[in-house]
Amino acid sequence: MAETPLHHSTDPFTDGEHNEHDPAVPASDAATCGADGGGILVVDFDVLVNGAADRRARAIRDLGRACEDWGFFMVVNHGVPEELKEATMETCRELFSLPEEEKVEYLEAGPMDPVRIGTGFFSVVDGVRYWRDYLKMFAHPELHCPANPPKLRDVAAEYSAKKRALMLVLARAISESLGLDGGRIPEAMGLESCFQILVANHYPPCSGPGGAGMGLPAHSDHGFLTLLFQNGVDGLQVERGGRWRLAKPLPGAFFVIAGDQLEIVSNGRYKGALHRAVVGGERARMSVVSMISPCLDAVVAPVLELVPDGRGLEFRGVRYRDYMEHQQSNKLYGKAALDIARVKRDIAA
Ligand code: OGA
Ligand code: NI
Repeated sequence: MAETPLHHSTDPFTDGEHNEHDPAVPASDAATCGADGGGILVVDFDVLVNGAADRRARAIRDLGRACEDWGFFMVVNHGVPEELKEATMETCRELFSLPEEEKVEYLEAGPMDPVRIGTGFFSVVDGVRYWRDYLKMFAHPELHCPANPPKLRDVAAEYSAKKRALMLVLARAISESLGLDGGRIPEAMGLESCFQILVANHYPPCSGPGGAGMGLPAHSDHGFLTLLFQNGVDGLQVERGGRWRLAKPLPGAFFVIAGDQLEIVSNGRYKGALHRAVVGGERARMSVVSMISPCLDAVVAPVLELVPDGRGLEFRGVRYRDYMEHQQSNKLYGKAALDIARVKRDIAA
């Protein structure tokens, strides 16, 4: 049945436990501050890079736990300047407010086209309307970018390069948290020549009857890791233990969302996080999303060290390009896309 999530009454968007962080916790000691209260775990990036061996080992253990339990965490002390984040968001905001004719060539783009803009207050997806505009740009190995606003190219290039460096460090730490060499996971996916997308989401104010609505339905991301920051308006929710939790960021933090390729390469030990965006306020919400993925031609399969004797193999190898095309061409529906990579078991056996 087609339904209009803007007036959805059965899905309580706000049932999630709010992840209230104690703002008094200093960021430098944040590596464990979220671990005790059942909240979202906070990884101190500086500890991963410069920390003494024992602190670093603890941060990596925490990171592994966050990937196992949530597929979701926050990263602080990441060194990406606030001004660059602001400039990226502002420039994307400018793009959304350009007249239609400036964007028209990107409006009809398909999932594998390097620049795509979804316009209008509503996108129509299988009869369900989502309260979201978006801009998607392929950022690496080559940056593709609309010509306007003119500064978008430089800002996007700088922002994406910073995020690539950050995610490569996270990828090494994740590899270590799995008991592997730091280089093992990056190498298994060809991350050195990674594919990267930059996405800006704009969720207009939504204060009509019914109030809350769905900006983006529940899904996991098709890549390896997603980094996200938002303007001051909450709305990102993450599923954990069958409940939706509102993700509230610490000041300056990035959210990190584990994607399907991490689930595949870790043979299901780490899960791609199910998440969604809800809207419902007087203020527009914006998020800027940078996703790092395997090289498009990499065939991603579980690393064999995690599959002792080849038993319990959960996923088969799938070329990332095919995976992405599959996920992007179908209706977003939870984690259904992963099924194309899942090893089917003979239930009767
Ligand atoms: C996405 C996404 C959530 C948000 O773009 O894949 O999950 O908060 N966005 O905008
Ligand atoms: Ni997402």
